[in-house]
Amino acid sequence: MDAFATKTRRQRQQLAADPHRPRYHFMAPANWMNDPNGIIEWKGQYHLFYQHNPQAPVWDNMHWGHAVSGDLVHWRDLPIALAPTPGGPDADGCWSGCAVDDDGVPTLLYTGVKGDWTQPHNQRVCVATSDDEMIQWRKCAANPVIAQPPPGMKIAGFRDPYVWREDGRWIMAIGAGIQDVGGAVLLYRSSDLINWEYLQPLCLGDARDRSGLWTGTVWEVPQLHSLGDKHVLLATIWDGDPLYSVYFTGDYHNYRFTPAPARKLDFGDRHFYAAHAIVDSQGRRLMWGFIGESRSSEAQQAAGWSGLMSLPRVLEMGADSQLLIKPAPEIEALRRQRRHFSDIPLSAASAEFRLEPLDRCLEVAAEIDPGSAEECGFRVCASPDRQEETTIFYDAAGKRLGVDRRRSSLLRESGVAADVQAGAFELKPGETLRLRVFVDCSVIEVYANDRACLTSRVYPSRADSRYVSLYARGQASVKSLDLWRMRSIWT
Ligand code: FRU
Repeated sequence: MDAFATKTRRQRQQLAADPHRPRYHFMAPANWMNDPNGIIEWKGQYHLFYQHNPQAPVWDNMHWGHAVSGDLVHWRDLPIALAPTPGGPDADGCWSGCAVDDDGVPTLLYTGVKGDWTQPHNQRVCVATSDDEMIQWRKCAANPVIAQPPPGMKIAGFRDPYVWREDGRWIMAIGAGIQDVGGAVLLYRSSDLINWEYLQPLCLGDARDRSGLWTGTVWEVPQLHSLGDKHVLLATIWDGDPLYSVYFTGDYHNYRFTPAPARKLDFGDRHFYAAHAIVDSQGRRLMWGFIGESRSSEAQQAAGWSGLMSLPRVLEMGADSQLLIKPAPEIEALRRQRRHFSDIPLSAASAEFRLEPLDRCLEVAAEIDPGSAEECGFRVCASPDRQEETTIFYDAAGKRLGVDRRRSSLLRESGVAADVQAGAFELKPGETLRLRVFVDCSVIEVYANDRACLTSRVYPSRADSRYVSLYARGQASVKSLDLWRMRSIWT
């Protein structure tokens, strides 16, 4: 355990000077990570597991990394929880899954991959338990506990078990796809977490319908949660490539879920993926997602790390079945050196309010009256000559919230994304724009009015790309503006 702690501390120290490596988002000590897995609050501590390749910053050879936190903000590395067993049902990877408390026994249910992963019959459900406070995990002798997808179905994917207790038994949802139909969630039932009986699809997508939000051909890492008087199905949309995580609000009865149309959980496609939510002991729904890179695999390998976890987000049900999504208040503990401004007019004549150079670990919170401006927002990670800058905008005319990263970086050679990310967002009459923006070296998380999120990645090349400014096209006014430097969580 001590040797492990020393090793991970050294790995973190070796990478700490990288200007693009986030400081206050959780990430693996080094190398690759993707999905949050099996998050559980256990004896007052939050345990976070995650898809991890401990050998290289590329997606391969999946293990379950493990970290623990008492405050949701600072994390301590624990030894790797699951590694592929040569010759076993997870010989080619321990993929995503969940954790449950089985009457005092912490239990992981995960996807064991053996053979060519693109074949659904090579994805199986496995179980592991711990009897020493989650440090060592014992794989169940009966693995795989589900060896095959249900017979007679043309399955396009079969992975990522998610389990809950209902009417005295365990119910498992599995992410799947059905050829020529669309994404699917399949349900199983068990009394012991080992013997599972197939029930039926919880819900099916429609891969022919491109009229609304496209929901792809396979749904990964599904979860069903009750929220207010509704149920919410979280699903992550795969279409040969990762796309985005969505939610459906709807009604759940008799093991069937009747969904309203899908909505994105975050407008930052590919940068908020595999959403994973839990209920904590305060009764809150907390959600995390995987934030991937948007630069080439060569650049990721040169960096020695790839991927990170979003900040924890609190989910609530809004009035119109729309989810409210806010950063968990615990993050505020990282704030330091507050600067406060109020009543700043932004007019066409002096449309930009520029602050002194700051660092690239910031929280910015603003309330803006958009007035008659057709667009307003922030520029962050901007160089003094604005050769590099990232614009976070509310486009009142086009009813969009977005991040413009066409000028985020002068680094073109490393495949850095240079596009505009945006999603539909509209203020109600008289409503002000309330933005919270978290900048962490190469990550930007934007929260607007508790009902829209956009996660982005930018890789500014210049050391002086540190300015923050406010701008408007037209007349707007900033009612209040607060900025904080944010502490590292690894000091
Ligand atoms: C989602 C996902 C899961 C799978 C895991 C593999 O990002 O593709 O469906 O279990 O990642 O790392």
